[in-house]
Amino acid sequence: MDKLIIKGANPLIGDVSISGAKNAVLPMLCASVMASKTNVTIRNVPHLHDVTTTLRLLSEMGCTTSMDEMMSVELDPSTINNLYAPYDLVKTMRASILVLGPLLSRYGHAKVSLPGGCAIGTRPVGLHLDALTKMGAEISIDNGYITAHCKNLKGCPINFPTTTVTGTENILMASCLAKGTTIISNAAMEPEVIDLANFLIEMGADISGQGTSVITVNGVDELHGISYSALPDRIETGTFLVAAAITGGRVTLKNAIYSHVEIVIDILREAGAEIHHTDNTITIDMKKQRPKPVEIETGPYPQFPTDMQAQLTALSTIATGVSIIKENIFENRFMHVQEMTRMGADITLEKNSAIVRGTDSLVGAQVMATDLRASASLILAGLAAHGVTEVERIYHIDRGYDCIEEKLRQLGADILRVPM
Ligand code: EPU
Repeated sequence: MDKLIIKGANPLIGDVSISGAKNAVLPMLCASVMASKTNVTIRNVPHLHDVTTTLRLLSEMGCTTSMDEMMSVELDPSTINNLYAPYDLVKTMRASILVLGPLLSRYGHAKVSLPGGCAIGTRPVGLHLDALTKMGAEISIDNGYITAHCKNLKGCPINFPTTTVTGTENILMASCLAKGTTIISNAAMEPEVIDLANFLIEMGADISGQGTSVITVNGVDELHGISYSALPDRIETGTFLVAAAITGGRVTLKNAIYSHVEIVIDILREAGAEIHHTDNTITIDMKKQRPKPVEIETGPYPQFPTDMQAQLTALSTIATGVSIIKENIFENRFMHVQEMTRMGADITLEKNSAIVRGTDSLVGAQVMATDLRASASLILAGLAAHGVTEVERIYHIDRGYDCIEEKLRQLGADILRVPM
């Protein structure tokens, strides 16, 4: 197991390129099992453990997969012969549930482990299963496994009582090959959902309304292989913007989409950052200032993303006043708070809000990462802190950030990965 050693309090300066979006690529990889005849190629795939895990999962099903150095993945689903997602793989990555809809829709059967516990909250998948049942699937749960059968899924209205990102994606994928029309209401509107819908449309699906809360899918008989480039990762984009802001630096992000992070940028502007953009770059300049306090409340897109909450909490620890951070999506997503407190942060938790009283500076300490975005926030805190911060259990960060320490070093950070 590795740890990161960070010597902080250096403004980050320079350019960095944003990788492909994890949460767009994972459903696309799963959707690929629905292609008949021709292979699927996905470009701009980030180098991440979650991608490797998904490729392993698909390989174990018999799908032929290959990846080149240009981060392009080719999949040949014609060799699939095992419609089974085992616990050993699913437990390391909840997104594995995304194979359920495509397998059921294309092959009429799937056995997928229930994802189980998760550090950031309970994260059930009942809404995915209810919707598939409504589409005609027979679903049973035995010994921790979901077994689903259905000769032909049938299109129908699906109204999600809570907006769910992977739930919307699972049903979007399942309905592509269903008989008739599926109308998904209260659908997630995240850019990754739009990217998946565009990917499926190129494969031959008949989808409209993606990016709104109502998505309509007319089932088609067959989907085919394509070559598609995934969109840039908006959470990596936001994380690097905060890295610049928390160190008082000036950074230009290349291959970044401004409109996908507008709400994060609004908050960073409130915090005092100067931000400019072009079609595919964003430049942030914090002019060596301490951030001003902010108020944030997380919610489904286009509201403030829960996946950026921990990073903004880190920024608030050194703000010139009191920030209020309210988490509305996951009930246990403040695991970073205790670790930040060990670095001198002054944070009080009240129900689902963190009240963060900014201090002049943080001091380096040994801290432990508990989940992906919490890991990112501790690295950010380490970049701002005086002295040395050691971030342990960083295997979480490798699940979702492509070469994070190389990219930070490129911006002048003093950060090193060492074996523990
Ligand atoms: N929910 C239910 N029942 C369900 C499904 C969801 O009650 O059947 C609830 C959840 O408990 C939560 C809310 O609905 O309170 C929203 O959860 P959602 O289903 O949208 O989350 P998810 O699809 O499991 C995706 C991302 C997460 C991101 C959330 C919210 C992927 C692979 N994962 O998770 O990303 O935090 O949406 O935006 O797309 C990450 O990348 O670090 C990450 C955790």
